Amino acid sequence: MSENERILEMRDIVKEFSGVRVLDRVSFALRRGTVHALMGENGAGKSTLMKILCGIYAKTEGEILLRGAPAEIQTPTDAKALGVAMIHQELSAFHALTVSANMFMNREFMKGPVIDEARMVSETDKVFSDLGIRIDPKAKMETLSVAEMQLVEIAKAVSTDADIIIMDEPTSALTEAEVRKLYETVEDLKSRGKSIIYISHKIEEIFAIADEITVLRDGSLVGHDEIGAFDKDRLISMMVGRTLSQQFHKTRHTFGDVMLKVEGLSREHAFENVSFEVRAGEVFGLAGLIGAGRTEVVETLFGLAKKSAGTVSLYGAPVEINSPGDAIHSGIAFVSEDRKNVGLNLVGSVKENITLANLKKYCRLGVINAREERAASDAQAEKLSVKANSRDTLAMYLSGGNQQKVILARWMSTTPRILILDEPTKGIDVGAKAEIYRLIDEFAAEGNCVIMVSSEMPEVLGMSDRIAVMHEGRMTAVFDRDEATQEKILAAAAGI
Ligand SMILES: Nc1ncnc2c1ncn2[C@@H]1O[C@H](COP(=O)(O)OP(=O)(O)OP(=O)(O)O)[C@@H](O)[C@H]1O
Ligand SMILES: [Mg+2]
Repeated sequence: MSENERILEMRDIVKEFSGVRVLDRVSFALRRGTVHALMGENGAGKSTLMKILCGIYAKTEGEILLRGAPAEIQTPTDAKALGVAMIHQELSAFHALTVSANMFMNREFMKGPVIDEARMVSETDKVFSDLGIRIDPKAKMETLSVAEMQLVEIAKAVSTDADIIIMDEPTSALTEAEVRKLYETVEDLKSRGKSIIYISHKIEEIFAIADEITVLRDGSLVGHDEIGAFDKDRLISMMVGRTLSQQFHKTRHTFGDVMLKVEGLSREHAFENVSFEVRAGEVFGLAGLIGAGRTEVVETLFGLAKKSAGTVSLYGAPVEINSPGDAIHSGIAFVSEDRKNVGLNLVGSVKENITLANLKKYCRLGVINAREERAASDAQAEKLSVKANSRDTLAMYLSGGNQQKVILARWMSTTPRILILDEPTKGIDVGAKAEIYRLIDEFAAEGNCVIMVSSEMPEVLGMSDRIAVMHEGRMTAVFDRDEATQEKILAAAAGI
C-alpha cells in the first residue's frame, strides 16, 4: 500500500437516535486517491456514518479530522465547503425542474443578475459527454427513469470540486454498460487525486474497484483491510457473521397451465408488439438495458398505464386491466423499482406498510382486526428479516435495504398468484438476497408465477426459468434457462 496521506479520519463515532445506538464507536480512515468500500448488511449503519460526514446527521460522540485537522461539520453546507460531496442512496431531485437546474442547484451560473440558463445547459452537456451519459439537460427531471436520475446525481457530485466523494449504492439502478462507465469515471477521479467512499452490496463490484474495505455489522466496526487481504467468502462471513452456502435457491419442478398470456401488447412511445406467456410454476426473467421498455411493460400489465394495442389473458380468459385495483383483484402483485414514489408510505409504520395492500383481509365490517394485522405483518417481517426497532417504527427511519424488504413483505402477504418484481433485490444485502431468492422459488413451486425485471445478470441467470430480452421497446429474444448465457443476453439487449 502506498503511503497515501490520510485525507479523512473518523474516530470513535457514536450515533444514537432517540436513545437507540446505531453506531458504536466506529472508526474509519480514508487515503487520498483511493477507493474505500464501506460494506455491511442492511441496517449496519453505513449510510448513517456517511450522513454524519456530510452534515445531515449530528454525531452523538466522536471526532472527525479532515486533512489532519479537526473538522466541525454541522450542516451540509459545512461539508460542501470542506470538499465533501455525497451521492445519496435515496434520490432527492427536484422533479419539476430541468436536469441542468438540478445539476447546478445552489451554484447557478449567472449573467449579471439573471441565471445563465444557456451556460448551465452547455456545462451540463460537457459533464455528461465526459461521463458518456445521454440525457437531455433541458428535460424535466420527472420525465427521467430512476436510472437516469441516478446518473444525474453521479454527474452532479463528480462536477463539484469536492475531493471526497461518497457514493451510496450508485449502481443499484444501473445496467452493466452504465456500471462499466462508472468504473471508468471512478478510475479517472482517483487519478486526479480524489478519494472515494463506495457503498455497495455487489461484491463483484467491490473487487473490481476498491483499494480497501471497511466492514460494519450492527453499528460496530468488524474490520478493515486492503482489498488483497479479502476473498469473497471472507468478506461475506465478515458481513453476515457466518458463511453462506448457496446464493440462488432454485428447485426444479414441472410447469402447469399458462397463467398469463400477452399478445401484441403495445404502448405508444414505450414498447411495441410484445408477446409472451408465463406458466404456473415459472419464473420469467425480463432482461435488457435501461430504457428498453421492461418497466413500462410490467407497469402496463399492472394497470398503471394504458396499452394502445394487444390483449392480455389471465388463467385462459382475456381481461381488461385498467387500474392497479383491477390487477390486484385478478391476483397480480407488483413490487416497483422506485420504492419512494410508488411503493412505500414513508410516514406509515412498518406494520401499516406491510398490511396496506390487503387491509380488507383484516377488516370485519370495516373494523381492522389489529391483532390479525399485527400477526401477519410480524410473520412477513420476520421471514424477510426486516431490521427495525419495532413494527411501529416509521418506514422513513429504516435503512434503504430494509425499506425494500418491507415492500416485498407487503406483496407477499397479499397471497397473489402472479408476482411482478421490478429490480427486487436493489439495495439488499447478500444474506437477505438469498432469503428473497428462496421466497421467490417457493412461491413459484406452489404453482404461482413470477415475472422478474432485473438488471443484475447473476440474478437473472440464477433465478429465471426463461429469460426474455428487450431492446428499444421490442422483445428481441427469449432463452430457456439451459441455453441462456451472459453473452447471449447482452447481445440481444444491444440489439445485435
Ligand atoms: N433518522 C433515523 N431515525 C431513527 N433511526 C434511524 C434513522 N436513520 C437510520 N436509522 C436506523 O439506523 C440503523 C442504520 O441505518 P443505515 O441507514 O445507516 O443502514 P445501512 O447500513 O445504510 O443499510 P442499507 O444497506 O439497508 O442501506 C437502522 O437500524 C436504521 O433503522
Ligand atoms: Mg444505506
